[in-house]
Amino acid sequence: MSRCDLSSQFKPGAHASTRSSRLAGFYKLPVAERRQSLLAAGWLTPQAEELLAAHAGFIESVADAMSENVIGIHGLPLALGLNFLINGRDVLAPMTVEEPSVVAAASNAARLAREAGGFFAETDEPLMIAQVQLTHVPHAEPAKQSLLNARVALLRRANEMIPEMVRRGGGAKDLEVRILEETDAGAMLVVHLIVDTRDAMGANALNTLAEGMAAPIQGLAGGRIGLRILSNLSDRRCVRVRVTIPAAALASEGYSGEQVRDGIVSASRFAELDSYRACTHNKGLMNGVDAVVMATGNDWRAVEAGAHAYAARSGRYSPLATWRVNSEGHLEGKLEMPLALGIVGGAVRAHPGVRLSLEIAGISSARELAEIAGAVGLASNLAALKALASTGIQKGHMALHARSVAAEVGATGEEIAMIAMVLAREGDYRPERALTVLKQARLGSVLHES
Ligand code: MEV
Repeated sequence: MSRCDLSSQFKPGAHASTRSSRLAGFYKLPVAERRQSLLAAGWLTPQAEELLAAHAGFIESVADAMSENVIGIHGLPLALGLNFLINGRDVLAPMTVEEPSVVAAASNAARLAREAGGFFAETDEPLMIAQVQLTHVPHAEPAKQSLLNARVALLRRANEMIPEMVRRGGGAKDLEVRILEETDAGAMLVVHLIVDTRDAMGANALNTLAEGMAAPIQGLAGGRIGLRILSNLSDRRCVRVRVTIPAAALASEGYSGEQVRDGIVSASRFAELDSYRACTHNKGLMNGVDAVVMATGNDWRAVEAGAHAYAARSGRYSPLATWRVNSEGHLEGKLEMPLALGIVGGAVRAHPGVRLSLEIAGISSARELAEIAGAVGLASNLAALKALASTGIQKGHMALHARSVAAEVGATGEEIAMIAMVLAREGDYRPERALTVLKQARLGSVLHES
């Protein structure tokens, strides 16, 4: 099988409409058995299962082609967020993240959401902005007018530079001009080319356009050409996700559903009123968003930059997701953020594991991918606030962290779960303690065998 030809062999096809993302006990299985259970449930084809077992075919030559000065491969887990029901469709969300509790927390929140109808998501058209900066423009207002008068001709010229994107139904759609400042040395203007990038994130096409259109723009406006680059504040390309959870479903460990619901709403207000809290609130939801962005080979730095600039758009840094009680007493959450994601080009072409992630999640458009990433973000936020409004996050977090500590001191296979259990029971997560437990366990099994 050619490593680059991944177009159809991963599409399970059979039972696609009846597969459930609710996979009870999945987390308890060894890794290979998890893959087998996905195969049996129709989530994976035998080829996909085989490729996953072989580190998704991510071999040194692929790594070498992706970067410079490569000396090896730095792996991260490919995990699945379970239980997601998004716009009525069962979805296994591919997630790549180093923080142990993120996948479990998102899956738990998605389970609550699924019992209440799941997540509802929608996206804007995939419109991105290419910026051309002009400085020392002698007459700002007339320059702006000539550019706007030439709008149609400029857009036509821009589209000639990106025929492939135009062929896919995208292309330059609009042009805007803003005067940023006027000084004795002339004005600074910025021209925005608004480009529909369809299923691509679009960075390359946007930068090609910004560079290619700078001279014709300067020809009309005068002044000097400055920067020519996309904007990562992709605020025309937002995703909106909402979820409604009955209060009773939120009850946990001695806290009534109403108490947890009200605690989540109060946590939301806290973030709305205080940027210090809003930052951490958004970090929690980006735990989920970034994990999907990473698993699908997208530029998470661009997503992060766009998200935080959007969060600060009112002049005060604010939460990207908020929570309220609706008229029926249910908890209602809403997320809105820019998400510039692609399913063609870039790492998607180069990394076989990325194609695999897209196939497992049944993603066939960039908008669908953004809806999944947004839903996982809202689930992560819900999970964090639910824990913070009740028992706190450390209990669950440390129980999962214990597994990493066990692995760090050399535990393997079933030893990991056993040591994690002892550490969690004792509330002592120091590697020294883990090593002692491991040594005792191994000694015990040697004595037992002899
Ligand atoms: C930790 O990775 C994320 C949280 O800090 C998010 C939050 O405080 O909302 C738990």
